[in-house]
Amino acid sequence: MTKRRTAKITAVGKYLPKKILTNFDMEKLVDTNDEWIRSRTGISERRQAAPGESSSVMATKACEEIIKKRNIDPKEIDCIIVATITPDSALPATACLVQNNLGAVNAFGYDLSAACSGFLYALDNAARMIESGHYSKVLVVGVEAMSTILDYTDRSTCILFGDGAGAVLLEADEESNYGLIDSILRCDGSGGEFLKIDAGGSKMPTTAETVKNRMHFVKQDGKSVFKAAVKWMADVSAELAERNNLDRDHIDLFIPHQANKRIVDATARRLGIDDSRVLSNIEKYANTTGATIPLGIHDAVRDGRLKAGDNVILAAFGAGFTWGAIYLRWAEVV
Ligand code: ACO
Repeated sequence: MTKRRTAKITAVGKYLPKKILTNFDMEKLVDTNDEWIRSRTGISERRQAAPGESSSVMATKACEEIIKKRNIDPKEIDCIIVATITPDSALPATACLVQNNLGAVNAFGYDLSAACSGFLYALDNAARMIESGHYSKVLVVGVEAMSTILDYTDRSTCILFGDGAGAVLLEADEESNYGLIDSILRCDGSGGEFLKIDAGGSKMPTTAETVKNRMHFVKQDGKSVFKAAVKWMADVSAELAERNNLDRDHIDLFIPHQANKRIVDATARRLGIDDSRVLSNIEKYANTTGATIPLGIHDAVRDGRLKAGDNVILAAFGAGFTWGAIYLRWAEVV
């Protein structure tokens, strides 16, 4: 096999806020119950950031785990990409705050907004940077403080989401042909109306009226999102597998975005991959939007579910609509 410069994940980090909100806690906030939430979503609990525990704080902690475990000097980092829809603020970018916290004095950084597909978009961007030969070490973070954009009087949305951060270090590999092999990324803005925040941007700037009308919170048409998520995550993963001659039996682990356990199960069924090779951790963390995939990768590493050479498919779907899939040949990580 011809060797080419690839980008491989060499280390993973995560951070979860300490505070746990169980379904029983949600019962005290809205008219819901544990049985309804578990049967419709697979969620039992989620994390909630403390006041001041913003996205940059959580992202920094996830990256610090990587720097410590990989034993690198932050000066070696070339770039930091933070995928988030809950940046600390519109300006400055959360990536700049993380860069400063880490002392990554030689890095540039930027935020990437693609909702639940943000981490996949960022991972692909980072890999292409490394393949170009211009950069060698890129931190890719998915982080969300979803609790800051949820309406805790709306039972159809507030039960679904949680807070947290996951990160990976991507490094160049010239030897093994491990790393990111292929990717397909897509978006379709005609789906924008199904999952959105109405106010707070340039279209509808914040006013007393928008605040009073609760227009700064996430709103969705759950059923439309559900159907599109299953179709597009499964179909883009199938397209990616087929064009890489990867039989379903040779996919060692499928790590889909964790929106809802029923979405994960239906996607796996449509793709034709059995449950034993599908990662699901939504029970503990709920939907952490841009953070679900790196948190899933972290759990898979912790649980010994990945070994060098494994074929891994990551798939995501989110607001926009945005979606995509990435095929990795797994390398050793710390
Ligand atoms: N507790 C109790 N009852 C509820 C709750 C709740 N938390 N939320 C809604 N209900 C009620 C509804 O009001 C409705 O009552 P009605 O029949 O009297 O009108 C009933 O339950 C059924 O509501 P549906 O919307 O039909 O429930 P559904 O089975 O579609 O499940 C859900 C809703 C869980 C939101 C589902 O549509 C879903 O998961 N969609 C995907 C949305 C998603 O994942 N969004 C995340 C962001 S996008 C992404 O990550 C891909």
